[in-house]
Amino acid sequence: MATSINAEALNESPMPAAVQKQAQAKQTVDPYNVSGEVGEDGVMKAIDYSKLVEEFGTKKIDKELLERFERVTGKKPHRFLRRGIVFSHRDFELILDRYERGEPFFLYTGRGPSSDSVHVGHTIPFEFTKWLQDVFDVPLIIMMTDDEKYLFSEKRTIEEVQGYCNSNAKDIIAIGFDPAKTFIFSDFDFVGGAFYKNIVRLSKHITLNQARAIFGFNDSTNIGRIHFGSIQGATSWASSFPHIFGTDEKRTTQIPALIPCAIDQDPYFRMTRDVSARIHYAKPSLIHAKFLDALQGPGTKMSASVDESAIFMRDTPNQIKNKINRYAFSGGKDTLEEHRAKGGDTSVDVPYQYLRFFLEDDEELERIRVSYEAGEMLTGELKAICIRELQTYVAGFQERRAKVDDEMVDLYMERRQLKWAGNPKAPIVVPKVVQQADGAAAEAKGEQGEGGDGKLTKNQLKKLEKQKQIEAKKAQKAKEKAEQEAAATAAQEA
Ligand code: TRP
Repeated sequence: MATSINAEALNESPMPAAVQKQAQAKQTVDPYNVSGEVGEDGVMKAIDYSKLVEEFGTKKIDKELLERFERVTGKKPHRFLRRGIVFSHRDFELILDRYERGEPFFLYTGRGPSSDSVHVGHTIPFEFTKWLQDVFDVPLIIMMTDDEKYLFSEKRTIEEVQGYCNSNAKDIIAIGFDPAKTFIFSDFDFVGGAFYKNIVRLSKHITLNQARAIFGFNDSTNIGRIHFGSIQGATSWASSFPHIFGTDEKRTTQIPALIPCAIDQDPYFRMTRDVSARIHYAKPSLIHAKFLDALQGPGTKMSASVDESAIFMRDTPNQIKNKINRYAFSGGKDTLEEHRAKGGDTSVDVPYQYLRFFLEDDEELERIRVSYEAGEMLTGELKAICIRELQTYVAGFQERRAKVDDEMVDLYMERRQLKWAGNPKAPIVVPKVVQQADGAAAEAKGEQGEGGDGKLTKNQLKKLEKQKQIEAKKAQKAKEKAEQEAAATAAQEA
């Protein structure tokens, strides 16, 4: 069978119109478009990830880096890392350096709430992020870009994306993030204060020309879209979150983020890294994932609006079974004889590719590959294994999701201190964030290894007292100024 979607494959896996529509001539991967190259024969090719690494100027994750990861963390790399699904990075080794030395960093990822229909593809970066949080024991910030999904759609209303934001937050919580270490926020709610200052700092350093070059905007692009990158970018800076990292910008601007994301998000952070360097802020590090192909095969991406393209997290076991059996593109041969003689092509076979994402056991996966390629295992058998794994994965999710209510969402979204310990072998000098009565956070440095108990040393109390006095003075001055101005206006009007 051919290596991609073509007329022949269509007979077996009817390709929905919306998936077909993704087809374009050249490979396109940016935050708003993802599709493989379409050859002269009209066949869409798989996304060429090596080309992306070259074009974007990122680094491939290689064996040495994974070995170092294992040495430094004592943890076996996640199956996504072992199998090249999380395949590329920027400065990940700097994060390992910091972890080794007990220096702080945090995780940042996000989701654009564009619909209620979360599919297995959406959960990949989040699964990986959860694992990173467990391994590194650091704060995690999850950004819900409701504003982005409003700006980048002709139809969606603000109320609509806010609804998606709430239900998507529940889906994300159901992945299993530790509430003590995780802060989720919506742009509509959180923009302001230190975060907004950073947004403006970032936007001041980006020209229209640069935004055009990075994102392909034109003269008809609404200006909200052009500005949006500074919002997604500013979340990479720890100083946007004084309630977590404290208010000492000398220190917080030097705490980098590690951003796990799908490779299409890289342009935002290329831009952010550039500005970070210019204003002497810590540059975010990145670690990039590949996409999970749509059921229709290589070069297609799951679409939340096309039911036949994806396995959704609310699908029943039966729906999962039917979708895989009916739509999953197969690398098997057309006839039993041919399959037995030549074997299947695992490189394009959707059920096999899904197993690479979801089957934990390396040896079992290898046995399946060998057997399928030798023509011993048949398509139906392979599909049955894939169905079983996906049913288990989705059922686990649904069980956790059923327990997530609005109260829990409020808990994760509340501005509050987080608790984390970092590398047990190199205790972090944890900044103590002290919640003040007015909700602002004051910070004092703790001693090694005593982070998180909330008790204050004499020095910290002194500092707090001083800060309170300064605040009081400021408030007094502001009041006087306001009174003077009011008097002046009154005089003018008189
Ligand atoms: N723009 C992303 C989306 O549309 C959401 C997002 C915001 C994000 N910040 C991020 C994704 C950081 C990955 C990492 O889904």
